[in-house]
Amino acid sequence: MNVVLCDDYQQMSTQAATVFAECLAANPAAVLGLATGSTPIGVYENLIARFKAGEISFAEATSFNLDEYIGLHRDHPQSYYYFMHQQLFNHVDLPSQRIFVPSGVESDYGAYCQWYEDRITEAGGIDLQILGIGSDGHIAFNEPGTALGSRTHITELDHQTIDDNARFFQSKAEVPRRAITMGVATIMDARKIILLATGEHKATAIRDAIAGPVSSECTASALQQHPDVTFYLDSAAASLLPAE
Ligand code: PGA
Repeated sequence: MNVVLCDDYQQMSTQAATVFAECLAANPAAVLGLATGSTPIGVYENLIARFKAGEISFAEATSFNLDEYIGLHRDHPQSYYYFMHQQLFNHVDLPSQRIFVPSGVESDYGAYCQWYEDRITEAGGIDLQILGIGSDGHIAFNEPGTALGSRTHITELDHQTIDDNARFFQSKAEVPRRAITMGVATIMDARKIILLATGEHKATAIRDAIAGPVSSECTASALQQHPDVTFYLDSAAASLLPAE
């Protein structure tokens, strides 16, 4: 596991965007694993700027998002489908037929979760996956207690996650209670993973992910067993890491 300490959010975003640019330069048809939340917004801004400057293209790429709220249609402003279009897809040349965001409004999730897994496999697997981390140590919506062998599934959101995400909704009552999410094992199949975190409120989760035992109580700790993962952290997020 690699840890890169960044001066600030801007520098972290630029460095992470460079990893994407290098991935696309090496393979224009790369399969990208994308994340929502506040953390990756700066990376997406940076990628849009590089696209507009003619430095990168997504024309041959494919993307898979990690998760989506159950019950939100894709045109709901808090849906992750909507978020991704606002923050990235509407501004770059990724073809819509190769954009995959899990659907929050399916009737048969047993079949749909398998369908999503099959699409990832059919695309050749994820080359580069970007992750945030929840203050409870989740990656995607793999909340504490989720099996580390899990694949795409439906999950109940933790109280902590509902509290954390209430800031995006009019009230806490509006935050969906369930989500569809790639499983921990789905994420671990990605060939390269970068995880970004800033701020003191992520420090405990980062300590548990990097220096704690590998445990479903902090699903990000599974990343310790991945061969190519880099954490990009500011000093506040890294503040509880043990000195080397
Ligand atoms: P955040 O969310 O980027 O909004 O902090 C991260 C996450 O929950 O994975």
